[in-house]
Amino acid sequence: MSEPEWWRDAVVYQIYPRSFQDSDGDGTGDLQGIRSRLDHIVTLGADALWLSPIYPSPMADGGYDVADYAGVDPMFGDLAQFDLLVGAAHARGLKVLMDIVPCHTSIEHPWFTERPDWYVWSDRDGPRNNWRATFGGPAWSRDPHGRGWYLHSFYPEQPDLNWRNPEVREAMAGVLRFWRERGVDGFRLDAIDRLLKDPEMRDDPVATVPPPLPEANEEYAGLQHVHSRNAPDIGIALAALREGAGDAFLVGEVYLPSAELAPYLEHLEVAFSFELFHASWDATAVPAAVAAAVGLDVAWVLSNHDFPRLPDRVGEVNARAAAMLALTLPGPVFVYQGDEIAMAGGADGTPPDDRAGRDPFRTPMCWDADAPHGGFSDATPWLPAACPPGGGVAQQDAEPTSALHLYRDLVALRRSLGPGLELVDAADGVIAFRRGDDHLVALNLSSEERPAPAAGAVVRHTHGATGQAPQTLSGGEGFVATLRG
Ligand code: NOJ
Repeated sequence: MSEPEWWRDAVVYQIYPRSFQDSDGDGTGDLQGIRSRLDHIVTLGADALWLSPIYPSPMADGGYDVADYAGVDPMFGDLAQFDLLVGAAHARGLKVLMDIVPCHTSIEHPWFTERPDWYVWSDRDGPRNNWRATFGGPAWSRDPHGRGWYLHSFYPEQPDLNWRNPEVREAMAGVLRFWRERGVDGFRLDAIDRLLKDPEMRDDPVATVPPPLPEANEEYAGLQHVHSRNAPDIGIALAALREGAGDAFLVGEVYLPSAELAPYLEHLEVAFSFELFHASWDATAVPAAVAAAVGLDVAWVLSNHDFPRLPDRVGEVNARAAAMLALTLPGPVFVYQGDEIAMAGGADGTPPDDRAGRDPFRTPMCWDADAPHGGFSDATPWLPAACPPGGGVAQQDAEPTSALHLYRDLVALRRSLGPGLELVDAADGVIAFRRGDDHLVALNLSSEERPAPAAGAVVRHTHGATGQAPQTLSGGEGFVATLRG
């Protein structure tokens, strides 16, 4: 029986399979490794896990270059291992979300050679227009099979599918059905603001203002992407994905500000809030980003595999307050493996694996700071392992003041917070909001001591204080308290 809206206030735990747990000693994480660590996710209190791509892939973009949507890369295991993982997750009450990459395939996907009409081609012997690829360079490359020039929104190894072709829409809906039939509960949809472009393929104008959200590449940010993405008829693509998904949960990676999410939310349960994710950590930008999402079904994100980790974005001193914010806002929240132990960015591989510089956000999970490679693998990992100052899961489990205990407590506490959110007046530098009739959350976003709003008893403090709510908060401190004593 389907459970309506299980996702409403869910905590979803993102797993980057290459870096979660190696079980076969090859230095790369795998499905069996994930299965062996499910209890960690259960103890955290999460409702679901999201697997970044596990499909067969040449790994030009960490698996976001899919060569077969209905298989498992041998690096991670096989379909039988996948079924075991889903069964083990379900037995523990965890839902399983797959990552669907509908915008592009790998250049090695058989579709690219067998179904050229499923891709987007230039009408001339060269780029069709001035569009740029997200990680740099033109968005057009010459086809190695001599069929002209094809479009790619990301790396040249990722040709864009032509979503104006109904056969493409049907094929991708079939992919969702395939995984649904294997028991998957939902999907994270990759880069869906790129599915439909201007049918006339007009040039993107030169940008006159900074991009609404940070872009990885300066050249790319130099254009305003009004034609190369986010076409007004995006609904035809989303309807096909919804058809394939049935009543499964859909969360969209829509890299747009909140004000532009509405057409996507007509078809999806939620879209990630990148506005809060990228907001500078201050008492102007953070409340504005929260307010911009009020009334929209957004999912909050602590970290992911594409951007600097939480302590590196907000500053180590603010990482606990930032976690308290995301975990006490209404709506689903996505925790990326390692957030719960306050992992910061690691080192690049030698040579770097990702050409866009994202290795530091993808280094192995630290299970035990006293074990070789943080307990991730017996072998040298594919990226260097590094543990956070507070230690790995083993150390933090034994230490009540740890980040891990803060996360576990907040995940449990969020279940008892009332509906809705109301921002309330607070001193300069402080954000404060009510949850329901009973709770107040207050966080000092500044670097100096500030008066705290009046409240009753502390239910959880970022740094462990208990008792009556304090009258002041140091920089980076915050609490969830009862409204009255
Ligand atoms: C977003 C994914 O999160 C990222 O890792 C990937 O490079 C692009 N989409 C392209 O698939």
